[in-house]
Amino acid sequence: MKQQFLFSFSFFIFFLFFYCTTTLAQSPAPAPGPAPPRGPTNVIKILKKAGQFKTFIRLLKSTQLDSNLNSQLGNTNNGLTIFAPSDSAFSSLKKRTLSSLTGQEMVELVQFHIVPTFISATQFDTVTNPLKTHAGSGGRFQLNVTTSGSSVNISTGLTNTTISDTVYTDDHLAIYKVDKVLLPLDIFTPKPPAPAPALATTKTKAETPDEEEDEVHKDTSGAFGGLWGQLQNGV
Ligand SMILES: *[C@@H]1O[C@H](CO)[C@@H](O)[C@H](O)[C@H]1NC(C)=O
Ligand SMILES: *[C@@H]1O[C@H](CO)[C@@H](O)[C@H](O)[C@H]1NC(C)=O
Ligand SMILES: *[C@@H]1O[C@H](CO)[C@@H](O)[C@H](O)[C@H]1NC(C)=O
Repeated sequence: MKQQFLFSFSFFIFFLFFYCTTTLAQSPAPAPGPAPPRGPTNVIKILKKAGQFKTFIRLLKSTQLDSNLNSQLGNTNNGLTIFAPSDSAFSSLKKRTLSSLTGQEMVELVQFHIVPTFISATQFDTVTNPLKTHAGSGGRFQLNVTTSGSSVNISTGLTNTTISDTVYTDDHLAIYKVDKVLLPLDIFTPKPPAPAPALATTKTKAETPDEEEDEVHKDTSGAFGGLWGQLQNGV
């Protein structure tokens, strides 16, 4: 009797186990239709193929923001929107506009053209201004989008322009062509006075030879100082 019980009990366990594994295996059934493979998207490759973005490509590379973009595309579900200024946008800037920028400002300028969410062409009607870019948010980083009919206008407070073309779009990356470089207020208008006195005291201290760390900090702002010049020379 006891043996029979054990026998049927083990059958019960066996069936229970079998039932569970099969239903569990079935339950996360994929939604109908094949899931689109999300292969690596290479922003530089797309821009290269489109042509007319040589300067922007060089800036993305020299600021090393290109590898950031590609890894972000792989890691986030928010996607990215990039406003890519054409080569003629860069050449129509006054020469001294970019030549005076520090490396940090150059990074900020490029980041200002990148929005950390995917915005499809039809979503521009409903976005909330100002858009948040990789450069930051707030009054000194305004990037407003207004639409009228099918045209999309962009205003930064310094630059007014219109999206002139869609370079690329899928479901998580959109690249739009703009015919002007988007200039953020933060770089091209005077900054509010910085807390200068603190800097002055560290500077006098740094004169002792063993304060090497301060020297390093002082240098970083100018580290990419000649970047624009190098780019102009095709380095
Ligand atoms: C967009 O820009 C064009 C040309 O600069 C201008 O005529 C139009 O009024 C602007 N539209 C909006 C909604 O700002
Ligand atoms: C951008 O939009 C915000 C909110 O509507 C507004 O306060 C700001 O003045 C606008 N800035 C520019 C440069 O258009
Ligand atoms: C940009 O457009 C706004 C509104 O149309 C205008 O008030 C402003 O002066 C323009 N700015 C530039 C730099 O053209």
